[in-house]
Amino acid sequence: MRQVDLRSDTLTRPTPSMLQAMADAQLGDDVFGEDPTVNKLEEMAAERLGKEAAVFVTSGTMGNLVSLLAHCGRGDEIILGSLSHTFFFEQGGSAAVGGIHPRTVANQPDGTLAVSEIEAAIRSDNIHFPLTRLIVLENTHNLCGGYPLDIAYMQAVGDIARGHNLKIHVDGARIFNAAVALGVKVDQLAAEADSVSFCLSKGLGAPVGSVVCGNRDFIYRARRARKVLGGGMRQAGVLAAAGIVALNEMVDRLAEDHANARRLAVGLAEMPGLSIDPSLIKTDIVYFEVKREDMSAEQLVKRLDEQGARMLPVGPGQIRAVTHYHISSDDVDYALEVISKFLK
Ligand SMILES: Cc1ncc(COP(=O)(O)O)c(C=O)c1O
Repeated sequence: MRQVDLRSDTLTRPTPSMLQAMADAQLGDDVFGEDPTVNKLEEMAAERLGKEAAVFVTSGTMGNLVSLLAHCGRGDEIILGSLSHTFFFEQGGSAAVGGIHPRTVANQPDGTLAVSEIEAAIRSDNIHFPLTRLIVLENTHNLCGGYPLDIAYMQAVGDIARGHNLKIHVDGARIFNAAVALGVKVDQLAAEADSVSFCLSKGLGAPVGSVVCGNRDFIYRARRARKVLGGGMRQAGVLAAAGIVALNEMVDRLAEDHANARRLAVGLAEMPGLSIDPSLIKTDIVYFEVKREDMSAEQLVKRLDEQGARMLPVGPGQIRAVTHYHISSDDVDYALEVISKFLK
């Protein structure tokens, strides 16, 4: 049966040139700083993001956690979105592991935090309060429909952070999707951030890994945090090799994923009983609502699954579909065809 798996962009398998690069990679012990392929990936990533240095980590979750641990001490407070991945989906690792106190601000539908609300959440100097240290932003914003945060917004938050002596961390799991969607260079988008974590293993197609970028002192602390979390990976060049190919070959093609996501959204908008505004789809993530008496989102997903068109039910009445390297425009049309059959 034909399989069109739209559950996530993390489903991407390494490309033939990644597998070749992995087989050919020069390796060493990365905990000694001697894996030339990891060193090359870290240099490339730092340069792309416009930062001094970088460290290769196992995952987006580890990238965010080592960043928070490197910026904050126990009892410090971070300001982050109520719908942010870091707050929602990372087991509260900052509090559990780092003793870092999360202060949430409501995410706007476009993934931003209202600048006035960030400012209102910053603690004054008072013996009762924790110390605010860090603002955490997410670009693109996963739970807010893959919306990209633009340079003007980053500058507005940068002004506040500077004014209050705070740092900014960007969970840039999909920051390359944001840069491609906005038509800007990724270093421009990262310019206001003191640290950025981005994923190689989502739309960029590498099998494993994320990279955290920042200044040298920060990366030294992030590398120490990585080690205590068990993230010292020895001959990790075998993975970093795929990451180098991802940065060289997989960034520009993200525009195809975005076009396919829009194609899917336009098709879904025409179907009875589904609700979606295609004009809001800017990157690879598509959320839509099922508004039918006779069928829940879970039931629809189960039926689609049986026809090989796979999506994720998320929350009551909502479904998520994500386009990626293995999804063509023809696959999108197939998924739409299957859905329309069940909605008739
Ligand atoms: C915005 C965002 N940040 C972080 C992560 C965590 O990445 P990982 O699954 O590699 O830990 C994800 C994963 O989907 C994500 O969407």
